[in-house]
Amino acid sequence: MRSLNFSAGPAQLPLPVLEQLRDELLDWRGTGASVAELSHRGKPFMALAEEIEADARRLLAVPDSHAILFLSGGATTQQALIPMNLCAAGETADYLVTGHWSKVAIKQASAVCAVHTVASAEDDGFLRLPEKSQWTHTKGAAYFHVTGNETIHGVELFNLPEATQAPLVVDLSSNIASRPTDFSKIGLAYAGAQKNLGPSGITLTIVSRELLAREGMQRPDIFKFASHAAQGSMLNTPPTLNWYILGLCIRWMLGEGGTAAFEARNLAKSSLLYATIDQSAGFYTNSVAADCRSRMNIPFVLHDAALDAVFLEESERAGMIGLKGHKALGGMRASLYNAIALKDIEALCAFMRDFQMRHG
Ligand SMILES: Cc1ncc(COP(=O)(O)O)c(C=O)c1O
Repeated sequence: MRSLNFSAGPAQLPLPVLEQLRDELLDWRGTGASVAELSHRGKPFMALAEEIEADARRLLAVPDSHAILFLSGGATTQQALIPMNLCAAGETADYLVTGHWSKVAIKQASAVCAVHTVASAEDDGFLRLPEKSQWTHTKGAAYFHVTGNETIHGVELFNLPEATQAPLVVDLSSNIASRPTDFSKIGLAYAGAQKNLGPSGITLTIVSRELLAREGMQRPDIFKFASHAAQGSMLNTPPTLNWYILGLCIRWMLGEGGTAAFEARNLAKSSLLYATIDQSAGFYTNSVAADCRSRMNIPFVLHDAALDAVFLEESERAGMIGLKGHKALGGMRASLYNAIALKDIEALCAFMRDFQMRHG
């Protein structure tokens, strides 16, 4: 029996995707081989890569002004590559700090360029977004980086900032495809696939062709977005199996109605869980400000931390895994990515109410 998996990533994959993967594993499209055993330069895989790019463009409504790259190395590698590609020597990049992952992005960038913090919500425990009136931008900044969703702190940026003179760079790792996004307003967006798009090991980078043309700083060719784009993301051997699974997930999302359908589902799922938390009379708490409560990752604490281990043990016995909170915050966290259905959240909420009745 499959568990209900609320992991923050790698996360639950849609069952039809896993079934197709199983069925095609030994003989993919009549080749007599697994997709993992075929050359990325052969016709079957090249055709697949083209299909997946077209599907990704349709799912995410990516305009022709932007290239889509399929890269390895995860989101963290992108956080290092972005300043290398977008900053010329001596330039500064602006960062908004909304939680743990913004800080990681700064850590990566600081090794290669000057970084300016536009504003930080750290003094507020990352429970709300930094007050807009206090944001300070660098004149002539190479770009402005924001984190679309803070996977650990459960803080989501529902309205992307208006572009300043600096192009907007967005980490969409944990909320890509969770709702429609206007990529025409974004210079570069990136997302590790392992949350909302598929398996770990492959990362989507969506970058405007204008930014691809930037000189950037001196770096090896393998670190150049433009070189990856020129070679169809096959500058070197790509993670072919992961790319294929990503493609299956994208197809599945298109078949389910695309990002507008997932927006409605994710709103219903997250509203139900927040209501269960808020109506528990303090047994469960999530302290994030209402206007930025994430629809993807919902951290919550139990009123008595001594119950944490019991909650995890009992939830696992009830068939639910991945609920342990990140070590930085403790408590619990439920991740509600697209592969999680409303009925899964109903089951979680029923378990939480029952647990409260027995232990409250
Ligand atoms: C918002 C966000 N950015 C970046 C990362 C780092 O991703 P990766 O492990 O793919 O490097 C994560 C991982 O959880 C994340 O949630």
